[in-house]
Amino acid sequence: MVKMAPSILSADFSKLKEQIETVQAAGADWIHLDIMDGHYVPNITFGPLVVAGVRKITDLTLDAHLMIENADDYLQAFQEAGVDQITVHVEACPHLWATIDKIHQLGLKAGVTLNPATPVTLLEPVLHKVELVLVMTVEPGFGGQKFIPETLVKIKALREFKRRHDLAFHIQVDGGIDETTAPLVVKAGADVLVSGSSIFGQPDIKQAFAKIKKSADAALAQMA
Ligand code: DX5
Ligand code: ZN
Repeated sequence: MVKMAPSILSADFSKLKEQIETVQAAGADWIHLDIMDGHYVPNITFGPLVVAGVRKITDLTLDAHLMIENADDYLQAFQEAGVDQITVHVEACPHLWATIDKIHQLGLKAGVTLNPATPVTLLEPVLHKVELVLVMTVEPGFGGQKFIPETLVKIKALREFKRRHDLAFHIQVDGGIDETTAPLVVKAGADVLVSGSSIFGQPDIKQAFAKIKKSADAALAQMA
């Protein structure tokens, strides 16, 4: 099973409720929340206040992707806002081990992520501690960027590490995932797909969601 995690970064925030309900009805598994602070990445999005609003709209897993400095200082605020899991960047968290522990102590699932130029080996010491590894397939900061194919080897390396060490973390991908790139990442080992502009940026959200899901499921079937 490939899970779908639409990112509301590309949603129309004046119609957020309606659009979240649309992807939920289409079969979304998680709602991906891109939190940006204008420091770690050159863009600002939304914080716990909006997340608390999203929590009232849906029971789906809320998957927070923190692209912020001093992430430790904000973990509790996002937990209180109602997220189910928090993913942090290895480049922005100098005490990653402790940050993962803090996320778990808040009763949440923990994810770690890395930018396209960051090697997977940096994460290896913590891979047994996390529920999720997110491979950024674009530079974080904006929706609508082009998928970077060189990241495929990192997805494969994670799949191999997971197999060798008998671990169970999800391998999630984020950035430029559409019906063309979804099969590539699924074949490389991804099992959770984040898509923003290729879902919410399309005139028919339901149909756009279905297209990506179908291409991902077809890729998975080919592997079996
Ligand atoms: C980028 C974000 C992504 C973004 C992906 O920094 O982490 O989650 O929403 O957008 P698309 O799918 O448009 O590349
Ligand atoms: Zn994201």
